[in-house]
Amino acid sequence: MSSTFDQSVFLQQLNTQWLGHSVRYFEELESTNTYLKKLAPEKIEHGLFCLTDYQTRGRGQYERRWETEKGRNLTFSIVLTPADTGRFHVLTLACALAIVEKLNDFLSASCAAIKWPNDIILNDKKTAGILTETVFSGNTFDRLIIGIGLNINQQKFSDELEDIATSVSLEKGETINREKFLADLLNRIEYKYTLWEQQQASLIKAINRNIIGYGQWIGLKIDDEIQDELYKLLGIDENGALLMLNRDGGIDSFSYEQIQLVTN
Ligand code: BTN
Repeated sequence: MSSTFDQSVFLQQLNTQWLGHSVRYFEELESTNTYLKKLAPEKIEHGLFCLTDYQTRGRGQYERRWETEKGRNLTFSIVLTPADTGRFHVLTLACALAIVEKLNDFLSASCAAIKWPNDIILNDKKTAGILTETVFSGNTFDRLIIGIGLNINQQKFSDELEDIATSVSLEKGETINREKFLADLLNRIEYKYTLWEQQQASLIKAINRNIIGYGQWIGLKIDDEIQDELYKLLGIDENGALLMLNRDGGIDSFSYEQIQLVTN
């Protein structure tokens, strides 16, 4: 069932200190990330939130498109202006963890996981993706934008996506209240942000436990070249670099731009 997002239901359920109190809602928009990127600096505040029921030019990672059905899913972006301008990849993964935990609780099963670097997999199919972008004014960091696309009530996917994409509704077998789902998710994201700010080691451990392939020997592509040897995935470090044990017993550290994991 397609419907217009009900902001009053959403705000009633929202229990955050600062995240999502300022909402920019549009029935239709080019892209929530693009909108927040273009917004004038004086209009920006930490926790500003933009949501739309339909993106005409939704963007994914690696310049791919992000397309979802109108009024059935969640497509939104959050503006953050942290004092610490590093470790952003950990923050993206902290949001991924919030989504995974929300899905596991909602579906009462351990069915969701993070596909590194920023996809969320539900029962072996993709249900959400995150696109994190930064805005600089000259050399000065201005804002971080975390854009999330989450398949909630979509029932059918294109032939190309059918075998690799799913929605929460398809897995649960019922229509989901998007407003309540989102409000609870933002509560969780705000909490994860606090853990990130405090550089809590427990956050890194929880992220690692939820990354597909953690502790396993897996294939790796480095700078687009498939490696002959397997590497053991040791998880991310406190800066978000991925640590891999090689066959010689050494630990290699990779930035997320450098490598792709081959987990199946
Ligand atoms: C990916 O899996 O490639 C990331 C997808 C991110 C999609 C979201 S939807 C809301 C926000 N606005 C965009 O244009 N993209 C992100």
